[in-house]
Amino acid sequence: MITALTIADVKKYVNEWKKNGESIGLVPTMGYLHEGHASLIKRAREENDRVIVSDFVNPTQFGPNEDLDSYPRDFEADKSLCESIGADLIFHPTPEEMYGESHFTKVHVDTLTEGLCGAVRPVHFDGVCTVVTKLFHIAEADRAYFGQKDAQQLAVVKRMVHDLNYNIEIIGCPIIREEDGLAKSSRNTYLSPEERKAAVILSASLRDAGAMIDSGEKDLGKITALITEKIKTEPLARIDYVSAVDFTRLKPKKTLDGDETLIAIAVYIGKVRLIDNIIVR
Ligand code: PAJ
Repeated sequence: MITALTIADVKKYVNEWKKNGESIGLVPTMGYLHEGHASLIKRAREENDRVIVSDFVNPTQFGPNEDLDSYPRDFEADKSLCESIGADLIFHPTPEEMYGESHFTKVHVDTLTEGLCGAVRPVHFDGVCTVVTKLFHIAEADRAYFGQKDAQQLAVVKRMVHDLNYNIEIIGCPIIREEDGLAKSSRNTYLSPEERKAAVILSASLRDAGAMIDSGEKDLGKITALITEKIKTEPLARIDYVSAVDFTRLKPKKTLDGDETLIAIAVYIGKVRLIDNIIVR
């Protein structure tokens, strides 16, 4: 597996692969890789001649009071995982390499970025869209893989690709969970043992909602109320949002109507903000 630290280095290999007519799958990550990331890399491995994993804690998607400095990092472990899955190249640039001394351009997706996580993270999705655009261009990828774990991110990236006619296919992949249901996340390492136990309330509340839907309930007001009540039974949990929106435009919905509905939650467990979701019809 190739380790590339510069954009020029990635382009050198990409040019060679493109000349040979090989397809390229890209998995953008911020590193500290776990089985959630691994599932995307495996899928990319199955569907492309070449697989590039980017491993870059992107400073522009963190707000001033967020966890950029404390975000967990372990590049050696990330390299081993990527190599074991059979990735061809891991791209691990510095912020200077990605953004230089000055960077005047950013990509902004309107409307879809206003609610859910965008409401408390105002610069987040501009940072995501800008870095993802750069990665798409650097890797000249045919396909890029994103987790449903970050459902708003997935919807926003799909919308950007659609609106700006990017020549890339976006593939959404299912959420990988711990045995007790907690969605795998690099940020789970911030949880104390007590908080880690409490964090199961997120997936448990969504599971209850799923059961309610399976039994025929279509009123999203009732479904989100059930989730809210369940989360409130956990003393360490504080709700940021519990929302039901349509999965393409992220507009609030009142009833399940057969189209994809995203039921998304963000919950503080102590100081750690966790997200989870289900997509239902
Ligand atoms: P990061 O949080 O490292 O996640 C990288 C990718 O892995 C995202 O597409 C995310 O949805 C997916 N992922 C994370 N946990 C997952 C899980 N439990 N199951 C399935 N997929 C999971 O998301 C980012 O990085 C950044 O915003 C990025 C897109 C790289 C731009 O900087």
